[in-house]
Amino acid sequence: MPSIDAPEAQSLFKRHFGRTPTHVSRAPGRLELLGNHTDYNDGLVMSLAVDRYIGFASSPRTDGRIELVSSAFAEGEVFLLDEIKSNPSARWADYVKGVLLQLRKRGVNFSGFSAAIHGTIPMGAGMSSSAALEVATALSVRRLYPFSLGATGAAATPPARDSRGELPPLAPEERLEIAKVCRAAENEFVGVKCGILDQISSLYGKAWSVIDIDCQSLKVEHAPMPGEAIIVCNSGVKHALVGGEYNELRENCESAAKKLGVRALRSVDLKQVEAGKSRLTRREYECARHVTGEIARVVAGARALREDDHRQFGQYMFQSHESSRDFLKNSTRELDILVELAREHPGCLGARLTGGGFGGATINLVSYHQAESFMHHMSRKYEERTGVKLTPIVCQIVDGAD
Ligand code: GLA
Repeated sequence: MPSIDAPEAQSLFKRHFGRTPTHVSRAPGRLELLGNHTDYNDGLVMSLAVDRYIGFASSPRTDGRIELVSSAFAEGEVFLLDEIKSNPSARWADYVKGVLLQLRKRGVNFSGFSAAIHGTIPMGAGMSSSAALEVATALSVRRLYPFSLGATGAAATPPARDSRGELPPLAPEERLEIAKVCRAAENEFVGVKCGILDQISSLYGKAWSVIDIDCQSLKVEHAPMPGEAIIVCNSGVKHALVGGEYNELRENCESAAKKLGVRALRSVDLKQVEAGKSRLTRREYECARHVTGEIARVVAGARALREDDHRQFGQYMFQSHESSRDFLKNSTRELDILVELAREHPGCLGARLTGGGFGGATINLVSYHQAESFMHHMSRKYEERTGVKLTPIVCQIVDGAD
């Protein structure tokens, strides 16, 4: 019996394949708490793994085929391991296929499998359902066909199962390699030049804790999260990172860094950006200004959390939103309205857009005892302003994928 529970994925498997899955994996979504578009600039970012998951139930097959079904899409997908290519009518399967290709590239040996996928992470809300699918795929392949990954690829000897058929828990270094596999899948197969925030967050989550990621050294640390409520407000405007806006922001950041004579914007501060302004295009300047200010805010935010100053931390969240809106320009009218409405409520400590932007959701830090009233206020006012229904979600901070 699998030790992890993902009941909907397990029952979808039974319904579709007519038997019980042999393995189950589960990967959480994430919320970016502070640090917007800092990850691919080698910067700092704070995130949370939250209690919305992709469940992945699977069993091995001997015919070299991979058959995938998902509760979210009408189209399933079947393909041979040796013929992995994108299928325009089942684009969602690209996240799985990309991971399989990356694992193979690193020398991981595996054969076919059947899998059923069910997610509770809202899609297009900026909570990284795609990274969770990638991570769940990689961990499922590990359960089906055990492997150990190091910086140079798969180890010659795979890990042994114990008497209950369980594998040893993943070491932190191996979690990092899996995060890199998943990021590469998205960069190379899906075509989004994302950083490593989402994949690390899904793999390194810790209950009640903030994940502090240094994207230069790839050092991951945990700090206690203030006992306030984390509430997500989904604007209802889908964001599709596959649209070119995300890659365009990244290109502007990279060309700004180059013109300022550094490898990544992590290596410059606001003063240096101002001094080099005449060498940058307007967009490059705006992006560099946002990223350097945002990295400084993450440093200040971590200090505020250590000092238990939640109000101050919330102020940094508001400032982050303003910087994304005014400099990075990845906000939308709806996200701005959500932050404006949140600010009006006395229980709200901070609010900002979370994730890629161009739609998606805001993250709100709200005093526990005012959470109900905050959610009520947000739903009522947002519908009044936009005509769109809003159902805020309270998120619990959870452990990473297993
Ligand atoms: C998306 C990307 C991440 C990160 C955020 C913005 O979620 O996948 O790598 O860049 O946007 O911070």
